[in-house]
Amino acid sequence: MAPSGPSVLPAPDPLHALLASVWPRLHTAIPLAASLGADWAAMSRAFVHPPAGAPPLAHAGVLEIPMIIDGVATRVAGIHAVCTAAQARGQGHARRVLEPAIAWAQGWATTLLLHAVDPALYERFGFRAIEQWVFAADVVQPPRTRTLRLLDHRDRADVARVFAAFAGRVPVSQVLGIGEAAPLFVLDEVLACGGFGRLWWSEPLGCVVAATLEDRLLQLYDVVGPRWPALETLIAAFDGRVDRVEVFFAPDRWPEQRWTRRPCMPPDVLMVRGPFTDADVVVPPLARC
Ligand SMILES: CC(C)(COP(=O)(O)OP(=O)(O)OC[C@H]1O[C@@H](n2cnc3c(N)ncnc32)[C@H](O)[C@@H]1OP(=O)(O)O)[C@@H](O)C(=O)NCCC(=O)NCCS
Repeated sequence: MAPSGPSVLPAPDPLHALLASVWPRLHTAIPLAASLGADWAAMSRAFVHPPAGAPPLAHAGVLEIPMIIDGVATRVAGIHAVCTAAQARGQGHARRVLEPAIAWAQGWATTLLLHAVDPALYERFGFRAIEQWVFAADVVQPPRTRTLRLLDHRDRADVARVFAAFAGRVPVSQVLGIGEAAPLFVLDEVLACGGFGRLWWSEPLGCVVAATLEDRLLQLYDVVGPRWPALETLIAAFDGRVDRVEVFFAPDRWPEQRWTRRPCMPPDVLMVRGPFTDADVVVPPLARC
């Protein structure tokens, strides 16, 4: 039977109740993503305060993001979902979970990153803000092949296609690329769209394309598959005219294009602790933590 998203939600455990009290969307996104194979508890190591027994008042999660940074395969630790219950803020609880989370992550990763609403908070913990860029180019519409179709998270075969596409995927960039991080990709898509809203499948290209096409502007968030398509081939696969492309990853795999850049303006700021690239980059939206 195809997963259709839970109509009756199971009672959230105390940690999920805390997370959902801060980010209400997580209340439905966590179980839906889990039903698709992206299990929050399996991908994120939780640091909570108090550590055991009493309901958690504060949380910091750590997940592993396989990345390519300046051509080197790197296990990056992503710190995410840092929060303190509203009634318990300003008492040092976030520090009580962040310090052990960072210490644990440093045991296996030299580079830690996160996305911050309040960068000043994380500067206290050794993180620095990194500007992110979106890359844009005007393009000439190639003859259309229209080989893309939208994937449906209620179709088990489509969900399986997404996970399969990550096996041996070509990272989108050698400057800042993402490896086999399918669960994070699915979780991010569910968080953004409440299901699969921007994921396309191309049978001939054998890849999943995360993108939107609106008013002749193609915004490309990720391309996941074992081969890297030419940009022209990708554009031709969409059923709609494209005059301009914006790429939400460093576009070094399409060097023939003349790219301009604009600051990426997400609601929050990329912050890094440890070695990182000096190049102009952006963390692809479906690899954000
Ligand atoms: C941000 C948040 C996690 C802080 O939790 P908290 O338990 O109140 O934080 P703490 O009391 O442990 O503060 C830790 C340190 O950060 C500082 N700090 C706390 N909130 C801060 C903020 N918004 N901006 C800058 N510094 C901040 C504190 O002064 C303290 O500094 P010190 O230990 O050097 O004296 C909490 O306000 C929250 O859950 N907000 C909603 C969710 C959210 O925005 N999460 C962060 C996503 S980036």
